[in-house]
Amino acid sequence: MDRRALIQAAAGAAFVPRMTAAEQPRPVQEAPIPSTGERIPRVGLGTWQTFDVGAAEARRADLALVLRAYAAVGRAVVDTSPMYGSSESVLGSLLSRERLHGRLFVATKVWTTGERQGTEQLDESSTKLETPRPDLVQIHNLVDWKTHLVTLRKRKDAGRIRYLGLTHYQAAAHTELADLIRREPVDFVQINLSLTEPEAAERLLPVAADRGVAVLVNRPFGGGTGLSRVRGKPLPAWATEAGIRSWAHFFLGWVLAHPEVTCAIPGTGNPRHAEDNLEAGRGRPFDAAFRARMTRAWLAT
Ligand SMILES: NC(=O)c1ccc[n+]([C@@H]2O[C@H](COP(=O)([O-])OP(=O)(O)OC[C@H]3O[C@@H](n4cnc5c(N)ncnc54)[C@H](OP(=O)(O)O)[C@@H]3O)[C@@H](O)[C@H]2O)c1
Repeated sequence: MDRRALIQAAAGAAFVPRMTAAEQPRPVQEAPIPSTGERIPRVGLGTWQTFDVGAAEARRADLALVLRAYAAVGRAVVDTSPMYGSSESVLGSLLSRERLHGRLFVATKVWTTGERQGTEQLDESSTKLETPRPDLVQIHNLVDWKTHLVTLRKRKDAGRIRYLGLTHYQAAAHTELADLIRREPVDFVQINLSLTEPEAAERLLPVAADRGVAVLVNRPFGGGTGLSRVRGKPLPAWATEAGIRSWAHFFLGWVLAHPEVTCAIPGTGNPRHAEDNLEAGRGRPFDAAFRARMTRAWLAT
């Protein structure tokens, strides 16, 4: 222990070892939500399948670690849906148990047909999430969007939700989504974008930027198929020299190299993967030339 640490220890203060500059965590990338200017971290968390664990305590313990890691970087987005089995309830119970309410940006969806069914589902989601006022509610896969947009606007005006948005996960829906965000005022659009599914970069991102709509990116690893394709293959040397530590980092780095992207939401229930993904959201985003190099390397795999 050095002199400073000894004095701290004598005074009963926590001993905080000095970090060298190289050990300091790099700053977390953040982006503004265009409709308000509120800033959120650029890496969030998806919960499809990974949070559908019911009462399994060992799995819940891992998920608690994942959520704590995300809360530590700021009000990171956690995206769920009534479509994801027990995910909303598991998330809600962990937010309460781990005292994380207010420390994460809670996004859910409405996924049903009909006005009454929609309002009932929204109320159920709030109960399951143990969150009376979710940060964001999105219309899942555009199901009955005309009906739910009216309901969500009323709830936003009444202060019952903070933001509203639209989602889809297939390139076939990008044209309709682009038309909708040109016409309808929404805060967020959530779409698939990855090295395996790059179509949104040309079709949707420019429209979202033009309309001032925040972009959440689902399936940043192509739902995992992208990572399977490169499993066991070495990263290019120029990528490791640029600080990329894993293929997940490579994939997320590519997504975050699109300045129109507000936040990518990789799904995981694995604390090590969560740390890996959060690491990809630290430091400066890669530029367009580096992104093009990544695309070429991916196409050559
Ligand atoms: N229509 C919609 O609104 C819609 C559609 C699709 C997805 N989404 C949202 O977007 C989120 C993300 O999409 P997704 O989950 O389908 O696909 P994804 O994020 O592209 O891939 C998830 C897969 O990658 C693995 N993974 C995560 N981090 C990893 C890492 N660092 N290293 C190795 N493997 C890793 C996960 O397994 P492990 O658990 O083992 O880490 C999981 O199998 C969903 O969870 C959901 O919240 C929304």
